Amino acid sequence: MNSYTEFAKTILLGESLEDKLHDAPFEWREWQDFKLPKLPARAGRLGFSDIQMKFPKINRLNEVDKKAMALHSFANHELLAIEMMAAALLIYPHETQDDLRFKKGILSALKDEQKHLGLYINRLNELGYSFGDFPLNDFFWRQMEKLKTASQYTAVMALTFEAANLDFAQYYANIFRNLGDNETAKVLDIVLEDELSHVAFGAFWMKRWRNDEKLWDYYVSSLPWPLTPARSKGISFDPKIHGKAVNDEEFISSLVQFEDHFEITKRPTLK
Ligand SMILES: [Fe+2]
Ligand SMILES: [Fe+2]
Repeated sequence: MNSYTEFAKTILLGESLEDKLHDAPFEWREWQDFKLPKLPARAGRLGFSDIQMKFPKINRLNEVDKKAMALHSFANHELLAIEMMAAALLIYPHETQDDLRFKKGILSALKDEQKHLGLYINRLNELGYSFGDFPLNDFFWRQMEKLKTASQYTAVMALTFEAANLDFAQYYANIFRNLGDNETAKVLDIVLEDELSHVAFGAFWMKRWRNDEKLWDYYVSSLPWPLTPARSKGISFDPKIHGKAVNDEEFISSLVQFEDHFEITKRPTLK
């Protein structure tokens, strides 16, 4: 049977969509040092582009091409999450039982992300589009080289990017439901449900690693510059849904109060 390295390398260094959706049983063998590549391997239509795609305006999401652009952008994020999780399996050591348990949690999240990517691609196809029709970017991946430890990775991936996705998934599920597109709304509901467990997974490990520190302080000190907690608030930031996943009142009230000077992240909070 293959080792975890073959599994994760197929996803990270394989170039095709089939490689990115790779699923096969493997064994957790002793950790092997691994050098993070500059970029995940991608071929053809999956290739990275420098073109900045503007996310469509909400009042135009009833138009099929705009809807496809939105779904494509969500799918892009799923693919980057898959590759970053595969990288995490490879770059962080697993020397203890705890380390291994943490990695098994990442693996389970990675499989969810593969499922999400498949659901978005499926929905795109139903609308007459395919994955790769619009430019794909490497935004999330660019953080990866800064994430030297498992706690930095968890602060960024689970408690920031996936936490923001709670708001985005909830928000867009409502938008599409109001537009009468229940199919797209259902996909976002599934994503939201899974993301809740991914954020909870991250919170669980950050609580375990923090020693005597407050979760909030540990989280903030684990974020590499220039990322701030503002990035963990999505559109229509909903403290309730974050609280459900993180389960730490002090953390959520600090998050609610947190403000920084990046204009883009100043989004209204749901009351
Ligand atoms: Fe996802
Ligand atoms: Fe996730």
